[in-house]
Amino acid sequence: MELKIAVLPGDGIGPEISKVGVKVMKAICDKFGHKVSFEYAPVGAAAIDATGNPFPEETYEICKNSDAVLFSAVGDLRFDNNPDAKVRPEQGLLAMRKKLGLFANIRPIQTFPCAIDKSPLRKELVKDADFLCIRELTGGLYFGEKFESDDRAFDTCIYTREEIERILKVAYEYALRRRRHLTVVDKANVLASSRLWRKIAKEMATEYPDVVTDFMYVDNAAMKMIQEPRFFDVIVTENTFGDILTDEGSVISGSMGLLPSASIGESTPVFEPIHGSWPQAAGQDIANPLAQILSVAMLFDYFDLKDEAAAVRTAVNASMDNFVRTPDLQAECKECYGTQAVGDWITEYIASH
Ligand code: IPM
Ligand code: MG
Repeated sequence: MELKIAVLPGDGIGPEISKVGVKVMKAICDKFGHKVSFEYAPVGAAAIDATGNPFPEETYEICKNSDAVLFSAVGDLRFDNNPDAKVRPEQGLLAMRKKLGLFANIRPIQTFPCAIDKSPLRKELVKDADFLCIRELTGGLYFGEKFESDDRAFDTCIYTREEIERILKVAYEYALRRRRHLTVVDKANVLASSRLWRKIAKEMATEYPDVVTDFMYVDNAAMKMIQEPRFFDVIVTENTFGDILTDEGSVISGSMGLLPSASIGESTPVFEPIHGSWPQAAGQDIANPLAQILSVAMLFDYFDLKDEAAAVRTAVNASMDNFVRTPDLQAECKECYGTQAVGDWITEYIASH
């Protein structure tokens, strides 16, 4: 297969983990005889500095003309601490999602047996937790009408039937391929937009009789996720709820640095870690590259390259088993590895197995 990949390293720890993701991707393509090419483009604060625009038109064109995007992170302290900033790095990520029509964000939440002690939750509780959070990504509060003045501001949570139907369809398709249990997470006791979600989900549930559909308010789901994570198989939810619940989900895995995601929709799919740019750690070689590497596994899955995806995951598991880990995951008595050293170990493992 021939793969044309747009690489968007972005800000903070982004460039460091991006380097590792590209290396791992190259190693897999060499091993399995695929041709891969990479084209780099700026996004976020890096793009604002270069062009004034967090998602420049040239970056969009490069993404659009690629088979997939390998994205890392955006965000910069200069903007975080300035509420008056006219443009923000995060707008680059949102513009990318919107312009590429990436309405579904697939976020797998799992535990890794060898890192189970890293979760602050009890081992017997998180053991074998394995669910998908399907987050709607181009609607809701993030993209609804906004207003901001010195004494009044609002965001609008707006969803259309079409937007709800298409994300529910994605969720049902995933549920059919898994344990056939879909939980629709909303706040239908308060929000009109949630009531529309629930109404449409009830209609669609009849089309998927093999899937058990249940409904849960988001506050209750937040509690259930850490109380009984094994309850869940597939969660589908609107944009903001999905953002919050997946950060919470990382506590089950034990580190934000472990969770990858795939954003899919109408145009080029994007593969991105769920964590942010961690600007405080930039350039220190301490960030965990596994979320980025596991995003590469999701990329191979997307193209139905199952053996390639499995080879990435086997190498990641081997690195953890061998205590080749960054500080966020390392066991107390072991020495920590740097971002690049973990990447090099995994790359060598792929080449030699
Ligand atoms: C995420 C991030 C982004 C989001 C930020 C960086 C805009 O938190 O991908 O979860 O809120 O979607
Ligand atoms: Mg988030």
